[in-house]
Amino acid sequence: MKVFIKTYGCQMNIRDSEAIAGMLKNANYEIVDHESKADILLFNTCSVREAAENKAIGKVGFMRKLKKDKPHLIIGILGCMAQSKGDELFERLPHLDFVLGTGQLHKLLDTVNSLVEERKQMLLTAECNDVLTQMGVHYNDGDTSNFSNYSSFIAITRGCNRFCSYCIVPYVRGREISRTIEDVVAEARELVASGTKEITLLGQNVAAFGLGGNVNPPEEGISPFADLLVELNKIEGLERIRFTSPYVSYFNDKLIQTMADCKKICHNIHLPMQSGSNRILKLMNRQYTREMYLEKVAKMRALMPDITFSTDIIVGFPGETEEDFMMTKTLMEEVGYDNAYIFKYSPRKGTKAAAMDDQISQEIKEERNQILLQVLRKQVESDIKKLLGTTQELLVEGVTKTNKDRFFGKTDTSWVVNFVPNAETKVGDIVKVKITQANAVTAVGELV
Ligand code: 5AD
Ligand code: SF4
Repeated sequence: MKVFIKTYGCQMNIRDSEAIAGMLKNANYEIVDHESKADILLFNTCSVREAAENKAIGKVGFMRKLKKDKPHLIIGILGCMAQSKGDELFERLPHLDFVLGTGQLHKLLDTVNSLVEERKQMLLTAECNDVLTQMGVHYNDGDTSNFSNYSSFIAITRGCNRFCSYCIVPYVRGREISRTIEDVVAEARELVASGTKEITLLGQNVAAFGLGGNVNPPEEGISPFADLLVELNKIEGLERIRFTSPYVSYFNDKLIQTMADCKKICHNIHLPMQSGSNRILKLMNRQYTREMYLEKVAKMRALMPDITFSTDIIVGFPGETEEDFMMTKTLMEEVGYDNAYIFKYSPRKGTKAAAMDDQISQEIKEERNQILLQVLRKQVESDIKKLLGTTQELLVEGVTKTNKDRFFGKTDTSWVVNFVPNAETKVGDIVKVKITQANAVTAVGELV
């Protein structure tokens, strides 16, 4: 049978979809690239903002017509929205066959198998820790894969205990749990043996790895996450290690020093800031101040001068004044991000912030969003020019969309560089290029 998987949301969802594709493939299901070719449609959903939920509901609603023509079609909603809405989804989407929550993803194959045998509506939303250890399957299909082989994700923690006041993740992904160092290293070794050059470690609060769910950041000298990085750094054949998303307070000196010492750890850190106003950070239940954030950035820059940062920012959090917003803008300028995901605050039912007074209008959110996008654009334009004339190492990622004769790759600091390949260049190679042009968001280099 043929399966189509559509993924919404974050890297953790992409990783979950990959594991599901792997499980299905190992059980002789075929993964296809369009819904019209499939017997089974899986929608792996996101609940972080309302728009993501609406998109998925709209899409599954639209599948009703397809199911009329193809009554044997099996349709499932998986992941965060499955967890948050549960039963309600069957009411809104009567043609839906099953709803599989975040704690039950490892049961996907059993669920699909049983629906192939016997048609009924199935709801599975219990929290179950086995999901952590039983989702280690990867989908490795060489060049035909939607999931690249040279660069792989590894989920090292699941869930979140932080309860930022705007965020639905702790409710839909459950309590934070971590794998063991041995388990993660074994998965990384297997991936490298099958061609992976770059791994990205995933977790909602990735640097809380191994802390036993303690909500407080570790004391100085303690960082199981740093211990994990040291072990991964030793793997022969692995070239690059990335991770996302860390919470700034978990970067103690031990972790920062480890990042500087381990050659394979990329000097590009995604460091969600959310807001530059201490008053708003407190309302968000973020456990740091603007000053603490800047101090961590300064420490990282001191040890890794070429480091680049990206971030997440929310504009229009309840009660955000013009003054609060200006604090975000100036913090953004002070840090100088080379990438930023700027979100308009979206009230999520059941979270503290959704019940706060003084919700901000859509117009103001949009206006603030545009202002920050402009700050980002300026920063990128000025930073990319600094690459001119330098020699950079790239991990080759593929052929550019606009010119089939050109390849592109990424520096460890996450700049994208286009270049003309030679006869031997292939995806997954590490190559050296000299940067000859650098404007807007892309640089151009020549092989050296
Ligand atoms: N509204 C807008 N953005 C949100 N995020 C999380 N919850 C919300 C929300 N309710 C953003 C945060 C987080 C990123 C993954 O999504 O910036 O870091
Ligand atoms: Fe959400 Fe905060 Fe947990 Fe990130 S750390 S997943 S923003 S609750």
